[in-house]
Amino acid sequence: MTTRDGSHGTGSGRPAWKLLAITAALAALFAVGVTALLVNIFQRQQEARDPFFRVVELTDETVDPAVWGKNFPSQYDSYRRTVDQQRTRFGGSEAVPRTPTAADPRSVVSQSRLEEDPRLKTMWAGYAFATDFREERGHAYMLDDQTYTERQQVVKQPGTCIHCHGSVYVPYKKLGGGDLIKGFEAMNKMPFGEARKLVEHPVACIDCHDPSTMQLRVTRPGFLEGIKLVKAKAGIENYDVNTMATRQEMRTYVCGQCHVEYYFKGPEKRLTYPWRDGIKGDEILAYYDKEGFSDWTHAETGAKTLKAQHPEFEMYSQGIHARSGVACADCHMPYQREGALKVTDHHVRSPLLNVNRACQTCHKWSEAELTARAQIIQERVFGLRNRAMDALMALIADTKAAREKGASEAQLDEPRRQQRAAQFLLDFVEAENSVGFHAPAEAERLLAVSIDLARQGQIALLRAGAPAPPVSKMPPAVVASSK
Ligand code: HEC
Ligand code: HEC
Ligand code: HEC
Ligand code: HEC
Ligand code: HEC
Repeated sequence: MTTRDGSHGTGSGRPAWKLLAITAALAALFAVGVTALLVNIFQRQQEARDPFFRVVELTDETVDPAVWGKNFPSQYDSYRRTVDQQRTRFGGSEAVPRTPTAADPRSVVSQSRLEEDPRLKTMWAGYAFATDFREERGHAYMLDDQTYTERQQVVKQPGTCIHCHGSVYVPYKKLGGGDLIKGFEAMNKMPFGEARKLVEHPVACIDCHDPSTMQLRVTRPGFLEGIKLVKAKAGIENYDVNTMATRQEMRTYVCGQCHVEYYFKGPEKRLTYPWRDGIKGDEILAYYDKEGFSDWTHAETGAKTLKAQHPEFEMYSQGIHARSGVACADCHMPYQREGALKVTDHHVRSPLLNVNRACQTCHKWSEAELTARAQIIQERVFGLRNRAMDALMALIADTKAAREKGASEAQLDEPRRQQRAAQFLLDFVEAENSVGFHAPAEAERLLAVSIDLARQGQIALLRAGAPAPPVSKMPPAVVASSK
């Protein structure tokens, strides 16, 4: 054999005993290393077996997250970081300073979406959303932003609103004499101001966790009832999400409690998720048509219109990640290592602010490449969304002009119905906060249908011989546009 200096080991230079000594030393070192590793693994297993160091007793009435935080300081710390505001290309949010007033004590809000795109005011003409609509921000703000939005001033909002903006689990149970659903029904019927006094915290630990086992649970009546409808349509009767869902499904369902399309049903203002006939945008539209439901009458055209809101759960469900079993929490609450523990990051935010942990656990591409892939999807969807918005504006302008020139109700009927449909499908993508990322092809499909319906509405107006000539101008024929 040849030693490193080029001489032969057993001949001249290095004697054999030296080699033996080195080998023995290496073996000893190796043994020490293995032992240390075993001890370390053992310690880690111990930690992993009982990761919860309980300092205080938690009950099914402990609402205050600071109390839970004594047992789970790491999760509590990250939970509190949802106050951070940082913008991404299409998401996140911007901290906009404002002067506090008696009516609205907030000193920071997020940017106005109405100022960013004034076409939204025309889309929602006559509805509260046309007065104030802002970019959503972290969970820490949910109760304040709802309490002080100007939409509270223009419309008397019901207690139903708080279902998704506060920690209602304990207040519902108290109000219902121990019965969650009874309390939910009672709060729905209250005026917002009265209900608001019963709720103290934004979404809190108790809303997603069982205090004795820390297992995930769904506490929101809207989702308990909504997911039953979804499963019934798939042939599963009497679905109980808290006993029948897998752990991975729960990592999505806890978010589906609130990040969904909803409406207030009947005079008792019951919060309802419109999922009986399916959860795709056009299936939900067909459901509202069957129920004869509309949110308001459009101020410029008289159409019976609908407002879509944050259908993240529904859209995500149509995408490749859902189909591959990836949950909301995988991207929005990824694990971070703390010693032996994998701790769930409770700083719920845009995954594009956290690509390393949110995406690279599964994808081998660089951060820059993963961000680019997400943004390419968003740019395409946003470009199409803008075309759909222009088409809708054209239909609204034509219908309004025809109406002012005295078109009959019969002549306006079909254009109005097309407006209702085109507008809802566009809003379904517009109100979905990932700008297409959660389900690119589905978002594009809905926008394509929306554009078609808006143009069909204009054609219907012409064919009905409505008195005003069309006034709309066609958008420039740009192939790719991100504006
Ligand atoms: C595969 C990863 C992934 C999954 C799974 C996922 N999201 Fe997202 N989500 C994203 C990305 C990427 C964005 C775009 C963020 C941006 O533009 O800054 C986003 C955006 C959002 C936003 C807007 C955030 C912002 O900062 O504007 C919300 C709200 C949201 N998702 C909720 C959900 C919910 C609820 C689920 C499950 C039903 C879910 N997401 C599933 C990756 C994911
Ligand atoms: C089904 C759950 C749910 C209900 C019910 C609900 N919200 Fe929200 N709300 C959300 C979610 C999720 C967001 C964040 C995503 C977004 O802004 O699109 C949000 C965001 C908001 C915001 C901040 C962004 C904006 O629109 O300016 C305000 C204000 C708000 N809601 C007011 C209300 C009011 C008023 C009601 C009652 C009429 C209500 N919410 C009912 C789930 C809900
Ligand atoms: C919106 C829902 C939600 C809220 C609110 C929430 N969590 Fe969690 N939490 C989760 C999810 C999702 C997981 C991952 C669970 C899993 O994979 O089984 C988790 C996991 C945990 C775990 C298990 C260990 C770990 O880190 O994975 C602990 C402990 C925990 N949360 C504590 C808290 C505390 C304390 C609060 C309040 C300060 C809180 N959570 C608020 C959704 C939530
Ligand atoms: C109790 C209802 C509720 C639950 C449960 C809930 N959210 Fe939210 N979420 C909201 C509301 C309301 C807002 C908007 C708050 C505001 O703008 O003031 C929001 C905002 C967000 C944002 C925007 C954050 C930012 O910084 O821009 C993301 C991302 C998000 N939620 C994801 C999730 C995920 C993922 C889950 C499940 C782990 C979840 N949410 C569970 C109601 C909820
Ligand atoms: C838990 C694993 C997991 C996480 C986390 C995850 N992905 Fe994925 N992603 C997948 C799987 C699985 C697919 C489907 C393709 C496949 O099977 O290889 C996919 C597909 C994609 C695609 C192709 C989409 C399409 O429509 O064809 C993109 C782009 C993507 N992911 C980006 C991201 C980004 C950005 C993040 C972080 C915000 C992320 N992914 C987080 C597992 C994951």
